[in-house]
Amino acid sequence: MSVSQKYRPETRLVQSGILRSQFGETSEALFLTQGYVYESSAQAEARFKGEDPGYQYSRFANPTVHMFEKRIAAFEGAEAARATATGMAAVTLALMGQVKAGDHVVASKAIFGSCLYVVEDYLPRYGVSSTIIDGTDLDQWRAAMRPNTKTCFLETPTNPTLEVLDIAEIAKIAHAAGATLVVDNVFSTPLWQSPLELGADCVVYSTTKHIDGQGRCLGGVILASEKFIQDNVHIYMRQTGPSMSPFNAWVMLKGLETLSPRVRQQTESAAKVAETLASHPKVSRLIYPGRADHPQAAIVKKQMKSGSTLVAFEVTGGKKGAFAFQDALKLVRISNNLGDAKSLITHPATTTHQRITQAQRNELGISDGMVRLSCGLEHVDDLVEDVVTALKAV
Ligand SMILES: Cc1ncc(COP(=O)(O)O)c(C=O)c1O
Repeated sequence: MSVSQKYRPETRLVQSGILRSQFGETSEALFLTQGYVYESSAQAEARFKGEDPGYQYSRFANPTVHMFEKRIAAFEGAEAARATATGMAAVTLALMGQVKAGDHVVASKAIFGSCLYVVEDYLPRYGVSSTIIDGTDLDQWRAAMRPNTKTCFLETPTNPTLEVLDIAEIAKIAHAAGATLVVDNVFSTPLWQSPLELGADCVVYSTTKHIDGQGRCLGGVILASEKFIQDNVHIYMRQTGPSMSPFNAWVMLKGLETLSPRVRQQTESAAKVAETLASHPKVSRLIYPGRADHPQAAIVKKQMKSGSTLVAFEVTGGKKGAFAFQDALKLVRISNNLGDAKSLITHPATTTHQRITQAQRNELGISDGMVRLSCGLEHVDDLVEDVVTALKAV
């Protein structure tokens, strides 16, 4: 039974997509099965012909995975969803599923490192050219479009500098050139930004982050219109198999039930941390979407319903200062993950962005003193105290 779109988004996160079995369970069942049995040979034949509704094999579809897909689609306001093994599987499939040799892809340079790898290194191996631009500059999007541009890809807010790109304007540019727009919405979560409403054709998540929210399972999801999924994703996924496991889908499904209160609290904490750090003498730069001093504050106001669970800031003293600060933290743990119930911090220049050159880091605004804090569910006062105390070590 699916819960109608007439209910508010938070209600859909708890009640949508339930496929209740004959036992009438309250909590969704975990269908940990690879295959399905048929009542007769004729039924098996009909199922394979698509004439008998039902499941065939969990690489194609599984009831628990289905419940997760239905629930996230209902929240996002998407017609269809396909859950994948990881966020990278979702990004790769959303892009590869649309293109063929001779096509062209445009992407913003400030995207997650592995996404950049797929666009810059993998696509060209299969004859798909790509252009990487500064996504905050609309003229660069316009200039990059070619007659064979098939799709555009961006992430907003970006990692780790939390720049915000204008989804509605970029969608218009892509569509005018006959291309689609795919948005990686990980940093804002489905709670605070709705790319499909803003004109994007497809939205992808690493559900590994806020959707699980407790650091357990990897996963991803692709959301779009039924047509987009049928034309670009469904068959590719069925035949190549980057499917989400039923167990992970069950964890993600239960994660969705608490997504709203978790992300709300984490966002409130991040805003409070940002406010505290904004005037701190050991912090030379602070970036938080939602603050009036954010470089793209007007776009944030237009397209995001709230800020972010992440705060990026530059500690004085470069790498030495950043390391001293991170090492002095008692509660916040050093980890490159994000969106967890536990607060996590990372030094992008020596971890997630160490493979790129210093010049590229400079271009992306990733200085040696920059750290990215993912606020968790600890009491905000403990979090602020931990950060402020650790800054004394700088
Ligand atoms: C913005 C963004 N997109 C995609 C991914 C990839 O997700 P996963 O690690 O689930 O493959 C990540 C992971 O860190 C990410 O931060």
